[in-house]
Amino acid sequence: MVYEGKTKIVRIVGDHALIEFKDDITAGDGLKHDVILNKGSICAEITAILMNFLSEKGIKTHLVEFLPPNILKTVPLKMFPLEVVVRLKKAGSFVKRYGGVEGEELPFPLVEFFIKDDERHDPMVCFDHLEILGISTKKQAEEMKEISIKATLVLKEFFEKGDFELWDIKYEFGLSKDGQIILGDEISPDTFRLRKKGEIFDKDVYRRNLGDPMKKYEEVLELCRSLSSQ
Ligand code: TMP
Ligand code: ASP
Repeated sequence: MVYEGKTKIVRIVGDHALIEFKDDITAGDGLKHDVILNKGSICAEITAILMNFLSEKGIKTHLVEFLPPNILKTVPLKMFPLEVVVRLKKAGSFVKRYGGVEGEELPFPLVEFFIKDDERHDPMVCFDHLEILGISTKKQAEEMKEISIKATLVLKEFFEKGDFELWDIKYEFGLSKDGQIILGDEISPDTFRLRKKGEIFDKDVYRRNLGDPMKKYEEVLELCRSLSSQ
């Protein structure tokens, strides 16, 4: 069984799902698209380091093993078609929707749920929508929210050791065979906003045409390698 998305290919092999990270980078629900050498291997390794760190802190992830250069061996999950965004600072679609200034601190971690549906531009939903649409129960949504906040605070602290600020981050979850909610997908500069003294170290470099995104992604990889070995 094979599933191919915009940036990954998933193959079920025996008891595992092998997730291959492609060199593709997209924005605007796939409208902007490029292929950048080594992007897949960089995002795969960053994901592996951060998911290892999260599991050390008691947060269950799908990661079993990093198979260099660009494959993660994972526990197969039945994915919820959801993006769970946690925001610590205002940016991106928050500012577009509600106003305010990029980088302004939020009083507490804000959690937003979006349905993965490019054609409808990933509509934002509340727990009632999730239950009515049969996507998840309210109890499952509560659990995803709780895990997302916990993971974000762990990662915020991780990056703070390198003087980097985590502004926001997106998670995806699935159910394992035994019915547990597990953090899946990836955690990389594609899926978080990371800043240091106003400098951008995430996909906003690409979204806003601010130069070569891979220079920044490589720096994030080096940072993750050095912080995880401390
Ligand atoms: P947003 O401000 O565009 O809603 O993005 C919030 C965070 O979620 C940001 O770190 C980027 C990440 N994200 C994804 O990983 N995938 C997506 O499709 C979108 C829209 C955002
Ligand atoms: N819309 C998403 C982003 O900008 C990803 C994509 O469209 O492929 O992060």
